[in-house]
Amino acid sequence: MKNKLEHRLPILQSSLPPFERMIPYLAHIENNRCHSNFGKLFNLFEQRMADLLQIPRDNLVMVCNGTLALQTGLMAMGIDKDKYCLMPSWTFSATPASAMLAGLRPLFLDVDLDTQALTPALVKQFLAHDHVPIEEIGAVMVVSPFGYPIPRAEWDAFTAETKIPVMIDAAASFDAVHRLPQMRPGATPMMVSLHGTKIFGIGEGGMLLSSDVDLISRVKGMSNFGFDVSRTSSYLGTNAKMSEYQAGIGLAVLDAWDEIREKRLAVTSNYITMFDQLGLKSWLSIDWLSSTCNVLVSGLAELARDYMLDQNIESRIWWNKGCHTYPAYQGLPKELRLLNTEYLSQAMLGLPFSIDTNQDVIAMIGDRLADFLAVNANKQFTAKEKATYC
Ligand SMILES: Cc1ncc(COP(=O)(O)O)c(C=O)c1O
Repeated sequence: MKNKLEHRLPILQSSLPPFERMIPYLAHIENNRCHSNFGKLFNLFEQRMADLLQIPRDNLVMVCNGTLALQTGLMAMGIDKDKYCLMPSWTFSATPASAMLAGLRPLFLDVDLDTQALTPALVKQFLAHDHVPIEEIGAVMVVSPFGYPIPRAEWDAFTAETKIPVMIDAAASFDAVHRLPQMRPGATPMMVSLHGTKIFGIGEGGMLLSSDVDLISRVKGMSNFGFDVSRTSSYLGTNAKMSEYQAGIGLAVLDAWDEIREKRLAVTSNYITMFDQLGLKSWLSIDWLSSTCNVLVSGLAELARDYMLDQNIESRIWWNKGCHTYPAYQGLPKELRLLNTEYLSQAMLGLPFSIDTNQDVIAMIGDRLADFLAVNANKQFTAKEKATYC
């Protein structure tokens, strides 16, 4: 029996650049006595982020968090109230919450097993069965699972064909958006979260990206009570502004971005090596860095989580059993069978993954996981059981 760790290893630790790198920006805020309302740092952060992503500044708007970017984005799309918003159940709670707060009714669909995401083919298949009259569908919200790239152009084409607007919840996809051609911002709006646990983390923050400059401009207005220049509300809005503090930290992260990515890449590569050695399939890539580390443990996720906790290692089934099982969303419509969602909820286990998770820690996690699997291999899904899901 191996000794369990003395201190609990956390699943994630938020990390920001060292304090010294933030001080010039914090000093600027104090000297200018401007703390919010689209101040100088906000404008600089938006511009420098647009430069990094190589998009025009008016294709991007920064807000105070990703959830409000989704909500204001959906509101700005002008969808009639109470229409359905088709979305995966296999997502974080912010996806249905933002749709409901924007006046839409989530309708949960199952995801594709290989990509863990909705695909245009899956949605069209659902529409073809006439479960819901097409005129009652207001939008589709597609989710990039744990940063996995979503082929944006396919969703542009889906909207052109069906006239149904699409929003991409790409909360964890900063790196994919930055690096991969298929995730370059375009017509279909995409939300990227800048929460402290994300790869480009600033504490709290979010951005909406789209080549639809009118949409981006409306979201910016909505983030500030729908005010026009005369400070009267031209349309319904809220307070979703990014403060100067958030922008200042964002600028410090931009200054250090290359170093941050290098460190994240090293942690990712070390994990991939460990998984390869154990013959395990993970949900990690060095082409698009994620902010979470999921390993596939077919049918054993809950058992493995309990075992790891016993070893003082935190792990997580990030999206539990899917949003359709949460009390807040009980009674919302869903596809009859959400088999892939059920399968993934028993197969995906999130392991400790922070910018400073070192090679020794990763080896120790691998060692404990191997012990667990050696004892429990017979409890994994059989090929037959798996076939009922996939
Ligand atoms: C899929 C998904 N959507 C939305 C969000 C919400 O982003 P934020 O925390 O910036 O509000 C998250 C956050 O983790 C997420 O994972």
